[in-house]
Amino acid sequence: MIDRYRRLRMDERLRDMARETRIGKSSLIYPIFVEEGKNIIKEIAAMPGQKRYSPDTLPYALEELAAAGVKNVMFFGIPKEKDECGSGAFCENGIAQQALRAAKKAVPELYYIGDVCMCEYTSHGHCGIIKGDSVDNDKTLPLLARTAVSQVEAGADMVAPSDMMDGRVAVIRQALDEAGYIDTPIMSYAAKYASAFYGPFREAAGSDNFKGNRKTYQMDFHNRREARKEVDKDLEEGADLVMVKPALSYLDIIREIKDHVNVPVAAYSVSGEYAMIKAAAAAGMVDEANIVAESTVSMYRAGADILITYFAKEVAKMIDEGRIG
Ligand code: PBG
Repeated sequence: MIDRYRRLRMDERLRDMARETRIGKSSLIYPIFVEEGKNIIKEIAAMPGQKRYSPDTLPYALEELAAAGVKNVMFFGIPKEKDECGSGAFCENGIAQQALRAAKKAVPELYYIGDVCMCEYTSHGHCGIIKGDSVDNDKTLPLLARTAVSQVEAGADMVAPSDMMDGRVAVIRQALDEAGYIDTPIMSYAAKYASAFYGPFREAAGSDNFKGNRKTYQMDFHNRREARKEVDKDLEEGADLVMVKPALSYLDIIREIKDHVNVPVAAYSVSGEYAMIKAAAAAGMVDEANIVAESTVSMYRAGADILITYFAKEVAKMIDEGRIG
């Protein structure tokens, strides 16, 4: 027999050497929830192990991250008050802006990404301005642009629009350029599906108050070619990186986009993916670390260059230990 495929599997060092997929800590982004107020460190029931912090307690969490070797953070803000037009998203002293200023001051070595969306700030909980029963795309655009600029003014190194309004990357790029932020990149949530996997996030971010669903702006999960269309458009409008979200049920989309574009591709392993693993592990049904290792590597194998994950610290540790990577 000439072909003995087991030869390459016989030795752990050889298996590691011959690996096809390699992942590094520098590609990890950790999403973190910041709540307006003081002295807050609050467990998020739907996402065991994840917490909400106020700007004054946030530095502890950031230092822990930096110590684990995770260098990139993405902020989601939870304001004290919400209104019809989500003004907390773009006001100078909004919670995301407060958090960015505090973070930059306390732990300047990390890279800070602002999530640009209205849903945590609007009283109706949708990702834009409401007209009748629907979100008014074009009225929402200038508010997203203002939000992006105000986050960058507060210290964001990058902005990531997650609202799924048409044309938002173009208006954000233009507004950033006009404000002089020509070098600030945009990571667009380009292929973002209307997904039940966001359930726990909506509790975590306090954005579960909305009526109906987000199907008039987020994508239908039956569609694959549409993801290419969304990505093409966002790149044409000036996106520097594109994202596929969620990750685990969308590995085919990650691969599709990876083969289709020549910019870095990010995948977002969302709250529901995290919560399912945590719940199954807590019930003793699966081994948490092994499931995290395998599912994380599958996202990179599918084509992700960058991974946004609530398991970022655990993944960093596994890479340090040589368990994956
Ligand atoms: C805001 C936003 C959502 C997520 C990231 N940004 C929720 C949504 O679109 O309803 C989900 C992240 C997660 O589930 O971890 N638009």
